[in-house]
Amino acid sequence: MKISNFIVRSASILAVALPFVSATPVTARDQLEYEYIVVGSGAGGGPLACRLAMAGHNTLLIEAGNDQNGNINISVPGYQAVVTNDPKLRWDMFVNHYQDQERAMQDPKYTWEVAPYQYHVGSDPPPPAGAKPLGILYPRAGTLGGCVTHNALILITPHASDWDNIASITGDESWAAVNMNQYLDKVYEWLPVEPTDPTILLSDLQLTQHLAGGAAVMGVGPDPLAAVTGLTNTLLNDPNSRLNPARDSTEGFFQIPLIMESGTRTAVRDFIADTVQKGYPLTIRQNCHVTKINFDNSTTPQATGVNFLDGNSLYRASPLSGGTSTPGSATATKEVIISGGAFSTIQLLKLSGIGPASELQQFNISVVSNLPGVGQNMQDRYEIPVNVKHNNSFPILNGCTFDSKPDDACLTRWQDNPYILAQRGAYATNGLAATMGVRSNYASTTDLDLYIFAGPVDFTGYFPDWNDAAVADHQHFSWYTLKAHTRNQAGTVELRSADPLDTPVINFNYFDTGTTAGGADELDLLAMVQAVNMSREALRRYYDYDVLGGTAFVEVEPGEEVQSTEEVGEYIKQRAWGHHASCTAAIGADDDPNAVLDSQFRVRGVQNLRVVDASVFPRIPGIFIQAPIFMISEKAADVILNG
Ligand SMILES: Cc1cc2nc3c(=O)[nH]c(=O)nc-3n(C[C@H](O)[C@H](O)[C@H](O)COP(=O)(O)OP(=O)(O)OC[C@H]3O[C@@H](n4cnc5c(N)ncnc54)[C@H](O)[C@@H]3O)c2cc1C
Ligand SMILES: *[C@@H]1O[C@H](CO)[C@@H](O)[C@H](O)[C@H]1NC(C)=O
Ligand SMILES: *[C@@H]1O[C@H](CO)[C@@H](O)[C@H](O)[C@H]1NC(C)=O
Ligand SMILES: *[C@@H]1O[C@H](CO)[C@@H](O)[C@H](O)[C@H]1NC(C)=O
Ligand SMILES: *[C@@H]1O[C@H](CO)[C@@H](O)[C@H](O)[C@H]1NC(C)=O
Ligand SMILES: *[C@@H]1O[C@H](CO)[C@@H](O)[C@H](O)[C@H]1NC(C)=O
Repeated sequence: MKISNFIVRSASILAVALPFVSATPVTARDQLEYEYIVVGSGAGGGPLACRLAMAGHNTLLIEAGNDQNGNINISVPGYQAVVTNDPKLRWDMFVNHYQDQERAMQDPKYTWEVAPYQYHVGSDPPPPAGAKPLGILYPRAGTLGGCVTHNALILITPHASDWDNIASITGDESWAAVNMNQYLDKVYEWLPVEPTDPTILLSDLQLTQHLAGGAAVMGVGPDPLAAVTGLTNTLLNDPNSRLNPARDSTEGFFQIPLIMESGTRTAVRDFIADTVQKGYPLTIRQNCHVTKINFDNSTTPQATGVNFLDGNSLYRASPLSGGTSTPGSATATKEVIISGGAFSTIQLLKLSGIGPASELQQFNISVVSNLPGVGQNMQDRYEIPVNVKHNNSFPILNGCTFDSKPDDACLTRWQDNPYILAQRGAYATNGLAATMGVRSNYASTTDLDLYIFAGPVDFTGYFPDWNDAAVADHQHFSWYTLKAHTRNQAGTVELRSADPLDTPVINFNYFDTGTTAGGADELDLLAMVQAVNMSREALRRYYDYDVLGGTAFVEVEPGEEVQSTEEVGEYIKQRAWGHHASCTAAIGADDDPNAVLDSQFRVRGVQNLRVVDASVFPRIPGIFIQAPIFMISEKAADVILNG
């Protein structure tokens, strides 16, 4: 009772109480005709569908997953790891960082399938005989709101150079950063963002001591005798500040802005629910997997609608898949917009005849538009931690069991204190306390290219049940790096089969197996080694603040014996991961044979078809990716509605 009352109250942008499900399942034979059809309700598709409907257009938003409204896992920021393991939302995608499987298996996160959706992780002990090698888990969400409904909530706005670059590639000045600002304003119309309350963090002196160490590395270390007050001021530093004209290149020690309202996750899903609730002509068809885009037979083929399968969790990435389905179709009198994410959008385009002709022909798919760039150019960040283990637990996690059972004292505290953020405790944070923002010595632009986060977690990347491992004890602490503006553009997404419910084959081709021109791979690696060195420096500076009384620790990963640039580099190449896959259907210049989209998101070679999601960027933008995706979603709405 308490829970559902609270959700209704806190999600104040919603007019009335949920549950919300507008989709009256219609039988397959019903005539389904809309002006716009948007496929996928995540960061790219969700806001766009809302804007089209708010402008009065009859819009169908199709989502393979369903609405998890009321599921406590999606509302509690502190459950951001737990929710990625919720079978009702999760899509288990497995990817190759390296195609050479021997090399890939050096990563202790490498995973085998033992039985359907049962996994073995790591080669020590070896997997049971007959286990099928899968690769590295890449979590995705099939649910209303897409990955935004289960992600880590961090909102970092992109750099001006990200937009100016698209303007210069395409000659379309509407992409210039000065013009893109208006779309960030539009995003903030529906997206609440707030920092973690510093008083929650600084009530834990062992954590405070670590944060002081990190601040010291950035030259803003507080006076040890007034560390809490000093850090409170530091943690008011907003990395998204729009007041500082040099923001993109300004290093510092920053708070982490989260997409939440009064400590409850509030984002795309809520914008969609609100739009439906207000009576705009938005129809949500959930539990519906789009299998093909339909075209007429004009000289320039025109998208006319989609075919789909109605059914619960049909995609094989879902551990709940295997149920029955009913085929159907819908038509769009104006346009079809694909927003399935960097992997699924590619799969759907290819299944519909849009992609490299040679690949399509292998699967006997007739070619509608031969676009060799579809599924190429994939980019991601690289991430890596330095983890330590203390003898004592972090007090901030006292009582946190991360399982929403009655003994989860941190959940009780979060539920019992709905009104004052500071009183909601650890679960009103995403577990990451603050970040160093750094421009490495190896950056490709003047912008920051490293975020190095601090948190009382044991985070080593994604593998099955990573969420349990991250909080198995409360003694671990990580400085965890995210390398932005990576140079590698060599990732690919290819069909595994012509079955739309199969997952595609995803190769990231990391480091020396990817883009190497001009030493690109070495420069990215060196930036990360520098980040590991800075993480260790922060751990050393922790001891400058002994007065706070935190206990000693030992380094677990990479471990004290790993020191030289070469050794640290090997550790990074073996274990780095990413979770901002993008750029697989890139916008490009008219004369670029690898361009998939024009500067207005239109798929080349066909009409009435656009792509609007993480796939559209020619280069991976910013430091985090959801903010730029929200912005292109708003831009796409403007372009579609106003030409
Ligand atoms: C664990 C995790 C944590 C993250 N944390 C952050 C963070 O803190 N900050 C940040 O900026 N980014 C974060 N990200 C990344 C960010 O959430 C994603 O990059 C972003 O949501 C991608 O948006 P999208 O619109 O491209 O795709 P998605 O958000 O994945 O949405 C695609 C939607 O399309 C649906 N769909 C796909 N195919 C079909 C089909 N054939 N038929 C019907 N529906 C279909 C899917 O079900 C899904 O709902 C995180 C990602 C993960 C996995
Ligand atoms: C939350 O997710 C976990 C998996 O991490 C799952 O076991 C649990 O059932 C989910 N809780 C709810 C309320 O759905
Ligand atoms: C287009 O042509 C193909 C084969 O030539 C045919 O199968 C298909 O039905 C046609 N589509 C329409 C909409 O006429
Ligand atoms: C493609 O069609 C050919 C000829 O009909 C057939 O032999 C082949 O098996 C098909 N390939 C696939 C992947 O379906
Ligand atoms: C990282 O630190 C090691 C050990 O102090 C040092 O030898 C190396 O040069 C540093 N590397 C980089 C890239 O900063
Ligand atoms: C942890 O505790 C053990 C035994 O209680 C002790 O030997 C060890 O030195 C302690 N380690 C640290 C890092 O404080």
